[in-house]
Formats: sequence, C-alpha cells, structure tokens
Amino acid sequence: LQHCKPTSSVCVLDSKDAAESGLDSIPGPTNWPLFGSLIELLRKGGLKRQHEALIHYHKKFGKIFQMKLGSFESVHIGAPCLLEALYRKESNYPQRLEIKPWKAYRDMRDEAYGLLILEGKDWQRVRSAFQQKLMKPTEVMKLDGKINEVSSQSIILTAKLYIDKNLKRQSNGKTGNFLCDIYHQSHLTKKELYAATTELQVGGVETTANSMLWVIFNLSRNPCAQAKLLKEIQDVVPAGETPRAEHIKNMPYLKACLKESMRVSPSVPFTSRTLDKDTVLGDYTLSKGTILMINSQAIASNEEYFDNGKQFRPERWLQEKSSINPFAHVPFGIGKRMCIGRRLAELQIQLSLCWILRDYEIVATDHEPVDALHAGTLVPSRELPVAFLTL
Ligand code: HEM
Repeated sequence: LQHCKPTSSVCVLDSKDAAESGLDSIPGPTNWPLFGSLIELLRKGGLKRQHEALIHYHKKFGKIFQMKLGSFESVHIGAPCLLEALYRKESNYPQRLEIKPWKAYRDMRDEAYGLLILEGKDWQRVRSAFQQKLMKPTEVMKLDGKINEVSSQSIILTAKLYIDKNLKRQSNGKTGNFLCDIYHQSHLTKKELYAATTELQVGGVETTANSMLWVIFNLSRNPCAQAKLLKEIQDVVPAGETPRAEHIKNMPYLKACLKESMRVSPSVPFTSRTLDKDTVLGDYTLSKGTILMINSQAIASNEEYFDNGKQFRPERWLQEKSSINPFAHVPFGIGKRMCIGRRLAELQIQLSLCWILRDYEIVATDHEPVDALHAGTLVPSRELPVAFLTL
C-alpha cells in the first residue's frame, strides 16, 4: 500500500445532500441525550458484539457514519475510497486513539512507552529502529529459524530478562541478533528497548494466535482448500526437511489461504486514528481531534468489494486480473502506522501451517456456527470444533 497508485479519485458517498460540512451532517444511529447510542449498542449484544453492530450501522448508514457513546464521539469509515483518501492525506506522525490505562500503568511503573502508545517524533524514532528489521522481507526471513524453534517448544521469557541476556551474550559486538542489532544501530536507550519489546509482545501475541485459530477453523470447514494446500506444501518442502522462509516464497496458495482467512475471520476488526489536522474525507470535512474508526472488517465482508464474500475462497487472491481494490483488505491497518509485525506474523502462521498440515488432517467435529466475540481481538465464541487426525 505504501507504494500503490491512486485507485480512484472520486469517492461518491451514499448521502444525497453531502456538501462539505462537519460532524453533525454525517448520518448515524440515534444520539440520545447523555447516553448517545450506548443503550442501542448494549441491546445489540454489548461490547463483545460491537463489531457486528458496527457492520450493521455501515449497512444502514453507508460508507461513513458518526456515533456517540456517552461523551465519546467517533466517525466510522468503511469504504476503500475513504481509506485511500485518508492514506493519501496522512501526516508524518499519524496517531491512534490513546490507550489511557496503558499509559497510566507505564507511568506508574516509571517505564517508557512503546510503539502502541508513543506519539510524534519519539514514535517515529522507535518505529524506524524496528521497521528496518521487521518490515523488510529479507530481514524477517532471517527469523525463520527462531520461529521454528518457538513453534517446536514453548519458551516463556519476560521482556527485560530476555533482552539483558541477549545483550550480554552479544556484548562482543557480533551482529546477527535481532534485538542487539537494533540496540547497537539505533541509539535507543535500554529503557526504550524494554518498552518497545514489551509492546511488540502486547501487539503480537493475541492477534497472531487468534489469526492462527481462525485459519485452522476455516481449513477444517473447507477440506478441498486444505487438500490443495497440503499438496502445495508437499510439492515445495521435501519430506523430512524443515520448512523455511525460502519455501514460503514458492507457496502462493498458502499465502492466499491466510489472506482469505484474515478476510472472512479477522482477529482485528478495526483500528483508529485521531486526526491531527482538519481532513476532507469524501464529502465531509472532519476537524482536527476527530476520532476516526477504520472498519477493515466491514469492508472485507461487503459484497460490493468481494463476490460471495461469506465464502472462504483463497482462489480469489490468485486470479491474474484481480479486480480487488488494495484498500478493501487491510487487516494490518494502513499507512505509516500500520502493523509493524505484519511480515513476522504472516511468516509465523505460514510456517506453523506447514508444520501442522504435514502431520495432521484438520477435521471439523461439528458444523454449527462459531461466532467471533470481541475480547480485544476477535476470538471464537466457543472451543473450536476441530480435531487433528494423524496422517
Ligand atoms: C499495530 C493487526 C501481529 C505489533 C497493528 C494494527 C493492526 C494490527 C490492525 C493497527 C494498525 C493501524 O493502526 O493502521 C495485527 C494482526 C496481527 C498482528 C492482525 C497478526 C495476524 C503483530 C505482531 C507484532 C505486532 C506479530 C509484533 C511483532 C504491532 C505494533 C503495532 C501494531 C507494535 C503498533 C504500530 C505503530 O503504531 O507503530 N497490528 N497485528 N503485531 N502491531 Fe500488529
């Protein structure tokens, strides 16, 4: 996305009389005194089902709507053209909604902030220190050995102990260790390194684990896709050989399966921005300070952008002349503040799938629905009805 060309210059909204105007003219659910739409949201299943309610509101009000929950006002966007407009106008230091309790906790412990909560130039400094290692495919590929190590045994370390252990071991100046390289090449303080690493874990564990769960679930319900995937794995990774990042390069179907699973069952349904300048989106001018919710799930589940959108169909990502708008599938967010762990997460899940599918057939143990509940990330509503049969 960072390099893609404009896909559309005009964004036509659903509202007929949308001249350039402020928040009040944006449609949205009834805004009752004091509570706003809070009671309506609670009636729709509460916070656990907020993602469903938001998709419902997008269906009802269109690509953009505004909502008030108590005193919390937000504008929601759910169309590729609006995401693209936002992306094109993004400033140097995009901001997400503040996570005040997490900031307060870090302050109380006299600890630094990591990427989830840092802002402005400090955010950019820490981001660029990690970005070189985490967003560059050739660098992430080097982590495949470590990923395989973690996949085959459980390692539990806390951030500080792990960092100190590594820095001590590498104090002889040798390079090649992920954290040591960042520490020595970026001038981050140890405190900043601890904080950044802690927040990489906060951002990376539940998200990746649940994406893994959902892809296992989707494969259990789609045995043809699973068989096709197994064949690709067997064709590319010789029996008995450890799957590596180099293998994944030649596995388009594996990549398509993960992409499709993250479309039909994302683990993160939306992200946010706090606008740091007045911004025109579609027909509306949103003022500085507006909280914007970017609903990637509403877009990914919209039939307008994905034919037979409910179906798990990895093949849709492999068509030569794909008509899929790149802004229609953004499970890792967009722009300068997009997920920094994206490539690592994808590699982790792809390698894990190679390990699992080579040894087991994943079968569905029932065909009843499994809902997604919002618990920070989208988690299955019940124990996954899957079994692993030894091949
Ligand atoms: C941010 C999703 C894995 C670390 C984000 C955002 C999303 C996201 C949607 C917000 C982006 C935005 O606002 O535009 C996911 C998903 C994952 C995943 C679906 C797994 C499948 C990871 C991993 C790590 C990680 C493995 C750590 C290695 C972070 C951090 C941020 C972030 C630190 C904040 C970045 C910043 O503000 O500069 N992630 N993530 N994530 N993610 Fe991930």
